[in-house]
Amino acid sequence: MDIKSFKVSNLGRFQNLEAVLAPSPLSSGNVTVFIGNNGAGKTSVLMALATSLSWFVARLRSEKGSGSPIPEDVILNGKTSAMIDITVLDEQEPSSNPDADISDHIYHWTLTKTTKGKKASASSNLQDATRLAESYRRQLTSQDTTSLPLVAFYPVERVVLDIPLKIKSKHSFFQLDGYDNSLNQGVDFRRFFEWFREREDSENEAGLPDDILEMLLKSAHEGSDVWHQLQKMKVSSKDRQLTAVRTAISSFMPGFTNLRVRRKPRLHMSIDKGDETLNVSQLSQGEKSLIALVGDIARRLAMMNPSMENPLKGDGIVLIDEVDMHLHPSWQRRIIQQLTHTFPNCQFVLTTHSPLVVSECKDALIYSLNDGKIFQVPSQYGQDANTVLLDVMDTHIRNAHIAEQLNDALDSIQNGFLDTARRQLDALTHLLPSGNLELSKAKLLLRKQELRHAKNL
Ligand SMILES: Nc1ncnc2c1ncn2[C@@H]1O[C@H](COP(=O)(O)OP(=O)(O)OP(=O)(O)O)[C@@H](O)[C@H]1O
Ligand SMILES: [Mg+2]
Repeated sequence: MDIKSFKVSNLGRFQNLEAVLAPSPLSSGNVTVFIGNNGAGKTSVLMALATSLSWFVARLRSEKGSGSPIPEDVILNGKTSAMIDITVLDEQEPSSNPDADISDHIYHWTLTKTTKGKKASASSNLQDATRLAESYRRQLTSQDTTSLPLVAFYPVERVVLDIPLKIKSKHSFFQLDGYDNSLNQGVDFRRFFEWFREREDSENEAGLPDDILEMLLKSAHEGSDVWHQLQKMKVSSKDRQLTAVRTAISSFMPGFTNLRVRRKPRLHMSIDKGDETLNVSQLSQGEKSLIALVGDIARRLAMMNPSMENPLKGDGIVLIDEVDMHLHPSWQRRIIQQLTHTFPNCQFVLTTHSPLVVSECKDALIYSLNDGKIFQVPSQYGQDANTVLLDVMDTHIRNAHIAEQLNDALDSIQNGFLDTARRQLDALTHLLPSGNLELSKAKLLLRKQELRHAKNL
């Protein structure tokens, strides 16, 4: 299931805004990235998509379910009604018509909101959201191992990795629970924790406890028949869904393995980082935020694809606001590639402020939002961060005051005011780090001019 395109009217700061999303003829990948200044409307776009999709999810959960309405304060100031229009492609259900073409798999619905007390100028039409949900419900009824599409929105408030102090003693998890709070809350770590514990319990019931298995493996002669049997037992007793989550986390964060729930000294979640075992609450903000995000996507995919050998290959739509949040530049560089590699069948709609994310987008569709309008940005794949800052993000690549002083010094050299240039470069020497490349270049240029000047005397 993919969002093909959307249109919003009188919503947030936009009067009219429409765009197609990747994959599309504009880009074969499955990532669309929105960039733009603070207040450009990136979050508004993602919220609009989440609001619209919430109606499909609600109708999947129950026939007459209601999704989230457009909040009244989102209606463009001075206007009386807002509209979100979405076109979705879903090819999951085979069409009963052998001559069917792609248009049979296109679903299109409209959500509107009018200010209280005002006359509505347009009305919602959610028939296709219902039709799409019904097609999944039909498949679920005939076969309860049917996969469901993941639909999730991760807002900036997503880093909630606090372990709940009180959790339900036992909670049953059903496939549809994969949608719990998936569009309104971001990471639901309480559920993650409860789910993880429940899966681990059934994993432990299915075989020997991990520590005993490890002990036996250590005492068996490596390569012997017993050793092979124990290894096989270790693999088969692992829960496929938990394995999916652990694999996803390890692939994003090499060196982090063996996420598990510990009962003592009190209930907590631990993970091995290299040789060290840590409580997840001891991890850094960036580590926590990645574990929370990746763990949540993987858990939901695992729940929604109960019969898939590798649930990480499940289908879905994932919206992430400020995907670079809390990440070190080297992780920012890798995040898109990791997401598409780990979750290859999900469509991603992301926002970012990071030139590093933008320059790593190989097949992504990039849009820049500016002054209520949308512009497609040519691929920046392989560009250096400075070029992206200058060309796409409309930002200086260095401190404006230093840039001005450097320019003044270069002008002085150019115009032959060598004494002035020397003074200006001396001043900069005190301000900049010793190996500054631009300063070294300017000094070299000055030296050349001085030599030329001396020759001419
Ligand atoms: N009802 C409204 N009418 C007019 N403008 C609005 C309305 N609601 C929000 N805005 C404008 O939309 C902007 C908020 O947009 P949004 O939060 O989507 O920006 P953003 O691109 O996500 O910014 P940031 O990078 O800071 O997160 C605000 O700056 C505000 O000016
Ligand atoms: Mg925002």
